[in-house]
Amino acid sequence: MTKIFLDTAKLDEIREVAEWGVLDGVTTNPTLMMRAGTADLKANTMKIVDMVPGPVSAEVVSTDTAGMITEARDILSWADNVYVKIPTTVDGIKAMQEISSWPNGRINATLIFSPTQAYLVARAGASFASIFVGRIDDAGLDGMEVVRQTRAIFDNYGFDCAVLAASIRHTLHVTDSLLAGVDIITMPYPVLQKIARSPFTDAGLERFLADWAEVAGK
Ligand code: G3P
Repeated sequence: MTKIFLDTAKLDEIREVAEWGVLDGVTTNPTLMMRAGTADLKANTMKIVDMVPGPVSAEVVSTDTAGMITEARDILSWADNVYVKIPTTVDGIKAMQEISSWPNGRINATLIFSPTQAYLVARAGASFASIFVGRIDDAGLDGMEVVRQTRAIFDNYGFDCAVLAASIRHTLHVTDSLLAGVDIITMPYPVLQKIARSPFTDAGLERFLADWAEVAGK
């Protein structure tokens, strides 16, 4: 079954969706931290951990292998369900090789734009391969095709690395990701709201209640 993650660092959004009972995890990145108005990565991540028992991703900001490894050691020590997000660069892939050898080496490989990058992070021991569907679409390419190809490659070789659909912009991305058999979809709060609601449901309910009021009032 595909897991649902929320792609945000905003605590009020996470708190609300956690109450729905369908939230399996949270992903953050430096931009999402900026939007949440905090630079205290540890404090904010630990507040999320308090609300969400599943995987919570926090991203490094170093760009060299040694710096990423140092940051990862710290981030992974915060809680057993914290995953470290490492960008998919050559330095990042080298860092993933080292980090994945640790007993607590939980890696979310981020900024993936091709099936070949996904293949390499799976080889490097990442737990999640985050494919940036919306940004691939922005470049005039087909983000969902990258997701489908990655799914096929991981299945070919039995890789123990989750296909994670990220940079999700709308409901159709969610439906297509579900059809492609991804392991995880991380979506922003407005998209999660949209997949849960329909104006036809609201209109149908309004009609049911109006009809009931008419017959019950007699
Ligand atoms: O997790 C990060 C990713 O989902 C970014 O999304 O909308 O900034 O391309 P976006």
